[in-house]
Amino acid sequence: MKFFNKISLAAIAVIGGSLAGFAQGVQPSQTPLITYDTQFHPTLAKNGMVSSQERNASEAGLSMLKAGGNAVDAAVATGFALAVTHPQAGNLGGGGFMMVYLRDQDKTIAIDYREMAPAGATRDMFIGPDGNVDRRMAFFSHKSSGTPGSVKGLVEALEQYGTLPLAQVMAPAIKLAEEGFVVSWGLEESLTRYQKRLKGNAAAAGYFYKADGSPYHAGEILRQPDLAKTLKAIAANGAAGFYEGWVADKLVATMKAGGGLITHADLKAYTVKHRPPIEGTFRGVKIVTMPPPSSGGVHIVQMLNVLEGWDLRNMGHNSAAYIHRVVETMKYAYADRSKWLGDPDYFDVPVKALTSKGYAASIRAKINVNKATPSTEISPATKLPEESHDTTHFSVMDKDGNMVANTYTLNFTYGNGMAVAGAGFLLNNEMDDFSAKPGSPNAFGLLGGEANSIAAGKRPLSSMTPTFVFKDGKPFMATGSPGGSRIINAVLQVVLNVVEFDMNVQAATNVPRFHHQWFPDRIFTEPGLSLDTRKILAGMGQNIELAPVGGKLSVLGTTQSIVLTPNGMIHGASDPRRPGGYAAGY
Ligand code: DON
Repeated sequence: MKFFNKISLAAIAVIGGSLAGFAQGVQPSQTPLITYDTQFHPTLAKNGMVSSQERNASEAGLSMLKAGGNAVDAAVATGFALAVTHPQAGNLGGGGFMMVYLRDQDKTIAIDYREMAPAGATRDMFIGPDGNVDRRMAFFSHKSSGTPGSVKGLVEALEQYGTLPLAQVMAPAIKLAEEGFVVSWGLEESLTRYQKRLKGNAAAAGYFYKADGSPYHAGEILRQPDLAKTLKAIAANGAAGFYEGWVADKLVATMKAGGGLITHADLKAYTVKHRPPIEGTFRGVKIVTMPPPSSGGVHIVQMLNVLEGWDLRNMGHNSAAYIHRVVETMKYAYADRSKWLGDPDYFDVPVKALTSKGYAASIRAKINVNKATPSTEISPATKLPEESHDTTHFSVMDKDGNMVANTYTLNFTYGNGMAVAGAGFLLNNEMDDFSAKPGSPNAFGLLGGEANSIAAGKRPLSSMTPTFVFKDGKPFMATGSPGGSRIINAVLQVVLNVVEFDMNVQAATNVPRFHHQWFPDRIFTEPGLSLDTRKILAGMGQNIELAPVGGKLSVLGTTQSIVLTPNGMIHGASDPRRPGGYAAGY
């Protein structure tokens, strides 16, 4: 009791209005709502918007909207263009998830084009002779690649929900690969930083560095003629241009030479799954998001359900009281993730239970709003009520209210760093998203068990969370982020910033974020939380530290979001946390 008094006294002294007001039951109107809207303005448009991590790719999508295409046409054009201009994560050799909202049918489809474990994959394939996970093999070998899904996913999305021919939608990507594009400061910086990873592989070194081995500089032109040939094969033959024929031959030859697993049979067997999305509500808005094999959608809904029980708005954005409640909620969600989430075709994921309001209430009841519960005292639910470095996200909205939220990846930045010689594309290392050994964390520090063990044909559990929000039955928001395990919490906070704190989408994107994933038992924050707030949280027993600057954790996600405002204006927000992003509207 004494301890709690001390906390609330400190809170009153330090953050005045927000926490103190809440503690004393002051009426909401006395707490000013801080929205930051005057400092940060979104990109405005009326007819359509594409927000992605690279300008040429956003403009490729926008050109489809201007040509009369719909959001899916634009998304597929952006997806193929990113494979050329944003090789860190844009890809042909990886996989991902696309959420499509069709306004005329008022229907959302979740397209799962996640990589599949090749037929030769086995449960213990990454366990070394010493009984521990062989990280080099799990991260940087040919065996780390799952059978790619991106090409089939993008092509099928276009066939089923687009309006323009594949060749037209792929034309910008082919041009960018064949004629080249101007290297940005961001790409120069990235290619310089990742030299070791890419130069270990002769094909990748040849594609991304000059003949003398030096990196391209900003302002210079990067041409990718082999990639252009592959893109042309796809434009001419559809997905068969990648999964069959000479491109497939080259991929399989690369696998054979490097000891990888992907065969012609695996490529032939690759299937895209169209899954029903996860739905939830928060304060009357509808959340429609990605189902398993992503964990993101389940946990976004689960966390919003828990948080709905508190008046967060009147605690103040990023106040200690707010952060504490959100962090405690995150711990429970990530604990459940470790046990209950996996590929639904192989493991019965209890989606209904995890996303139920009742289960959320039971979590809320366990949370002490004044004191941190150490992660060691939090376990995944043993019994439920009846019933996953560089990735990239883009969002599209068209004039008719159709939306796309797409997140796809090679897993690490430039995947496993290996390219397919002659075909110009990089390979993923998504097999590390499986749980190679129970209790042994993956590259993102995520723990897992049986639900996410390796098996032939299975899809590794993901954190990618492409998400829509609907308000009054109308499309309102499309969002998503890269960031490995941090994705779910980044998306959660952007949604809360818009829905709970009424921020415009650019402000909601820019304000500082925080992250807790159960283990390690630590809140990572971005710079920008006051020292006072951090001290209060520490006083409540939270382990809080700045996400290391210059390291991978220095930013928590890079969101690309679009909001349709009640007056019909489309607001786009490309996250400034990484260079080169661009919201293109008209
Ligand atoms: O699917 C996943 O959860 C991971 N492969 C995503 C990796 C990622 O976001 C790396 N990011 N910045």
